Amino acid sequence: MFQFPETRVVVTGGSRGIGEAIVAAFAGAGARVAAVARNPERIAETAARIDGDVLPFACDVSDEAAVSEVFGRITEELGGVDVLINNAGITRDTLVMSMKADAWDDVMSTNLRSVFLCSKAVLRPMIRQRGGRIINVTSVIGLTGNGGQGNYAASKAGIIGFTKSLAKEIASRSITVNAIAPGMIDTDMTRELGEGTREEILGQIPLGRLGSGDDIARTAMFLASEAGAYITGETIRVDGGMAM
Ligand SMILES: NC(=O)c1ccc[n+]([C@@H]2O[C@H](COP(=O)([O-])OP(=O)(O)OC[C@H]3O[C@@H](n4cnc5c(N)ncnc54)[C@H](OP(=O)(O)O)[C@@H]3O)[C@@H](O)[C@H]2O)c1
Repeated sequence: MFQFPETRVVVTGGSRGIGEAIVAAFAGAGARVAAVARNPERIAETAARIDGDVLPFACDVSDEAAVSEVFGRITEELGGVDVLINNAGITRDTLVMSMKADAWDDVMSTNLRSVFLCSKAVLRPMIRQRGGRIINVTSVIGLTGNGGQGNYAASKAGIIGFTKSLAKEIASRSITVNAIAPGMIDTDMTRELGEGTREEILGQIPLGRLGSGDDIARTAMFLASEAGAYITGETIRVDGGMAM
């Protein structure tokens, strides 16, 4: 569908789930992909398993020094960055009344601070290249809120505000910044919820199925392609109609 020869792509949270599907989709379309995740063994295994040019990098994307060091290496090895996909994320669900500050801080750092740090790390190379695409993976929960996910919803709503602000700051440099808001996608994150909850959520999806990592990967490819050139500051729901 889309081809990305000689395109240099960085995907955070690239070892599993949605991130792995995005890495595989871009690598399959001819891109050189730097796949970043926390667990060094898992990201190395994923990179080895995927067909195409995939380089593994281990890094906690909420750690400023680690992000600066790893993105320095990525930029050097790839010779620049054309597309950044900020996808790494976690949940630590509980009602606000019983939420520990740790659970708030962990989710905000991994989901939101990371988007700021990784985006900042690619801005200079993208400005030098006179263009680039930044794609942030938020969630429909950032649009609707959800009981038991106050920390997660705040982090994902924060991504949407950040996306629009950065889009306005750097549009004049031909860099677009957009977000994708997945609904319920079949990954480790949602398998944790248990069959009962998954069935209940399935009943709220007009298209009648959970999403796949490929559904999100195809939207990321659209935004990174020429077809997405005139879109910036947008958040695209990919949720089978769940949050409409
Ligand atoms: N699944 C859904 O239904 C759904 C819906 C809406 C939005 N999303 C969003 O989509 C994104 C991916 O979700 P998923 O379901 O694919 O999750 P997942 O299967 O749990 O995978 C999470 C990925 O993020 C990485 N990661 C977590 N913390 C990290 C850190 N501090 N530094 C670097 N990498 C880190 C993990 O790396 P390790 O393997 O090293 O732990 C893994 O690659 C998340 O932002 C999530 O909020 C998911």
